[in-house]
Amino acid sequence: MKMEQRSFIIKGNICYTKTMGCLDVADQAYLVCEAGVCQGVFPVLPSRFKGLPMIDYKEDLVIPGMVDLHVHAPQYPFRGLGMDLELMEWLQAHTFPEESRYADLAYAKDAYETFVRDLQKSVTTRAVVFGTVHTPATELLMGMLDACGLVTYVGKVNMDQNCPDSLQDGGVQEALAQTAAWLQATLGKYRHTYPVLTPRFAPACSGQMLEGLGKLQKEYGVPVQSHLSENLSEIALVTSLFPWASCYGDVYTHYGLFGGAAKTVMAHCVYSSDREVKQIKENGVYVAHCPQSNTNLSSGIAPIRKYLDRGVAVGLGTDIAGGATLSMLRCITDAVGVSKLYWRLVDQQDKPLSMEEAFYLATKGGGAFFGNVGSFEEGYELDALVLDDREISSTRQLSTKERLERYLYLAQEGGRLVAKYVAGAPVLL
Ligand code: GUN
Ligand code: FE
Repeated sequence: MKMEQRSFIIKGNICYTKTMGCLDVADQAYLVCEAGVCQGVFPVLPSRFKGLPMIDYKEDLVIPGMVDLHVHAPQYPFRGLGMDLELMEWLQAHTFPEESRYADLAYAKDAYETFVRDLQKSVTTRAVVFGTVHTPATELLMGMLDACGLVTYVGKVNMDQNCPDSLQDGGVQEALAQTAAWLQATLGKYRHTYPVLTPRFAPACSGQMLEGLGKLQKEYGVPVQSHLSENLSEIALVTSLFPWASCYGDVYTHYGLFGGAAKTVMAHCVYSSDREVKQIKENGVYVAHCPQSNTNLSSGIAPIRKYLDRGVAVGLGTDIAGGATLSMLRCITDAVGVSKLYWRLVDQQDKPLSMEEAFYLATKGGGAFFGNVGSFEEGYELDALVLDDREISSTRQLSTKERLERYLYLAQEGGRLVAKYVAGAPVLL
């Protein structure tokens, strides 16, 4: 049966974005997948595909899968709690105590099962994930994510200062040795889960730690994820810890952990200076914009329009538990919302993001971190969502584009994820 070879046709009302700001809509069209790879969207099915099995989703919407470029799996148990603090206090009061619990593998198993189950049922098809400093718990998480069918990068966290002793992994040398062993154990082990080097953020890492991680990056060629310029107190701390650095990002650059040969994603970039944005752009670093987290932790509003105007690669992240929800739909509408506040309150030169633009960021924008991902163009890995919006009440006749917009805002009012495909393979919902 061809289905097992991930070759099939989906019929439905198809929406995707090839270029930022422009939504391609094809009603009652054919989305063709061969061996997990998209062959394109066709209003009339070309005869060369006629032998493939077809699934007719009738009036349902069919859109690309969503990419969560920044999410902390171990913080899932306290999502929606403790939103009354700013970053540095929040880390001490809520985050570090929770993450300490993952030394206990039984606790980790329970917590990660819940996280993975909910992520599997969500609109997310790919994610870049933080674990904790604990290697066994991180490997457990990687195995679970691999089994659930999503494509993920997962990081064992590194930190050796400005955090509790219990999260310091036995000192720099021990932590680096463990990280090397973890890379050796996990590289090539899974079908769709990959390790990513994860210095938590500059304030929690000594120069020695960052230097060691930079060496590991060169040796193993793995990508990097961290946080950057999220909060004003955090940035002040970086300035005092690394006085030689020309900007926060320069700390990572100095140690070979900021793009170039090292594919890198940095969460937040709320307060990146011109110099920092220049380094981000020149080094091809991805920005993971996390609007709900930036609101909850009173961090500020990232000037995403400025980054897009300068050609910076941007995707979206939920940043659980800074963000309360795993929903990338909510992440899209929050990105639109905060961009309007930025335009109204901060800089009238920076036009708000449109729905189509934020949809692009959640699909093709973040998807680029994974390769040809996030679109239904020919040659893209076929990640797709099938959405049923019949229970979201309406007294109007809506166009397909309007139905998509409403689904982004109102999914929780009766929207249903009918099916989800990752690289042409159906995910159990
Ligand atoms: N900076 C360092 N650690 C964290 C974290 O866990 N969440 C967020 N939002 N920012 C961080
Ligand atoms: Fe984060």
